[in-house]
Amino acid sequence: MPRRALRKLDPALDLSRHYRDGEALPPAFDQQALFGRTAPLEVEVGSGKGLFLAAASQHTPDHDFLGIEVSRKYARYAAARLARQNAANAILIGGDALPLFQDWFPAESLSAVHVYFPDPWWKKRHMKRRVLSEQFLRNVQRTLVRGGRLHFWTDVEEYFQTTLSLIATATDLRGPLLVPEKAAEHHLDYRTHFERRTRLAELPVYRAEFERTE
Ligand SMILES: C[S@@+](CC[C@H](N)C(=O)[O-])C[C@H]1O[C@@H](n2cnc3c(N)ncnc32)[C@H](O)[C@@H]1O
Repeated sequence: MPRRALRKLDPALDLSRHYRDGEALPPAFDQQALFGRTAPLEVEVGSGKGLFLAAASQHTPDHDFLGIEVSRKYARYAAARLARQNAANAILIGGDALPLFQDWFPAESLSAVHVYFPDPWWKKRHMKRRVLSEQFLRNVQRTLVRGGRLHFWTDVEEYFQTTLSLIATATDLRGPLLVPEKAAEHHLDYRTHFERRTRLAELPVYRAEFERTE
């Protein structure tokens, strides 16, 4: 399904508290400097329009949320959503998540990693571009705290099964843990925009969670 054009952002909206460019981050990760506190930190990879971050940061004010979105246009759009709701505990980073997981997040620094509807890269020769690579999954295990969880949802059954096998062979994460589907109570009561459009098209969503136990 192609993506619809994004609505124009209000140029008067101040994004300085909610948007950081990945190229301009300080070399060492410092949660206190980003959020003014240290709270359990949840990271979303590929935030798209930012529905998950906007809802989760409101529902769980005692956690901090970082979204990482490689498309600057979408990252700024999602940051604008956070700025409008004046979120004190959520920030969008415009940039590639993979090097940040490789080098920037310290070991045992994240209470959750969320990956919802990652780009499937259907063609065999493009599959190496998938976010959920063996290296990334090892870094997820490294950066999660004990008891921390990886949340992975997709509408692509093959990507789901391939990733489950990769997690089983490349990590010690416990799972897959069952994630039941819940009925939506209103038009934004979905985890993400891609979940919304998949469910409205009556197509299946594959969901799994994994826990770092050791
Ligand atoms: C199919 S969209 C899903 C967006 C959102 N998670 C949702 O479910 O509505 C995948 C998103 O991941 C972003 N993305 C792809 N590779 C990325 C990477 N290496 N780092 C950060 N974002 C990435 C894309 O730009 C795109 O916005």
